[in-house]
Amino acid sequence: MRDCTQEHIVIAIDGPAGAGKSTAARILAKKLGFLLLDTGALYRVMAMHLMRNGVDPEQSQGPIPAEALHGINFSIEPDVASMRLFLNGEEVTHLIRDEQIGIAASKFSTRPEVRKALLETQRSAAEKCSLVAEGRDMGTVVFPHAKIKFFVTADVEERSHRRCLELLGRGQEANFHQVLEDMRARDLRDRTRREAPLVQAEDAIFINTTNLNPEQVLELMVSRVKELGCFLE
Ligand code: DC
Repeated sequence: MRDCTQEHIVIAIDGPAGAGKSTAARILAKKLGFLLLDTGALYRVMAMHLMRNGVDPEQSQGPIPAEALHGINFSIEPDVASMRLFLNGEEVTHLIRDEQIGIAASKFSTRPEVRKALLETQRSAAEKCSLVAEGRDMGTVVFPHAKIKFFVTADVEERSHRRCLELLGRGQEANFHQVLEDMRARDLRDRTRREAPLVQAEDAIFINTTNLNPEQVLELMVSRVKELGCFLE
């Protein structure tokens, strides 16, 4: 792993669901020896916590009770190329991958109080070590001064197809038309919310992964890292 006493570098990767950014972030972090910060996972843990405390993701009126929001006791163990998450001492790393939790996370993430509650956790991760941080607002809001920013996307049909394969791989049911519909709704919500919407940062490098495999995406990223940074031999 990269020496944590050196200057800390953040590489920001943003993009919609299913664009391949998680895979890209994981293998890039591993290649560089940086820690991986999967911020979607933080929103998922928050969604799980809020629902367990009786907060309905559909309810958009009125603020989320502060005791539900701040009563969250979670810890993250970032590592090279993986991240373990604990909610009130229970490991939820795999539980949060449920499709319904992802949809609830997208709904809760439109709420300014939820975003505010998670902002510090994300920024403080970069105080400890160099990071590959992936999410929706890494390059625009959380790490606007990131050394390198990527915006990764793919056609919505291809992203839905990948999501189906992922669900089937986990032994879950997958109906392509349902997944496509959910994906479109999630895209719309993530892109049009008032607070920190999913947009490409002006200085981000755009990568369309529709016809690329993970190795090709990594290759593109590494070549840009070599051009712009100086931390790869
Ligand atoms: O990347 P993901 O699918 O695990 O993220 C789940 C949801 O969390 C996503 O639909 C929107 C929200 N999210 C966000 O608003 N900002 C982030 N930086 C990461 C995720």
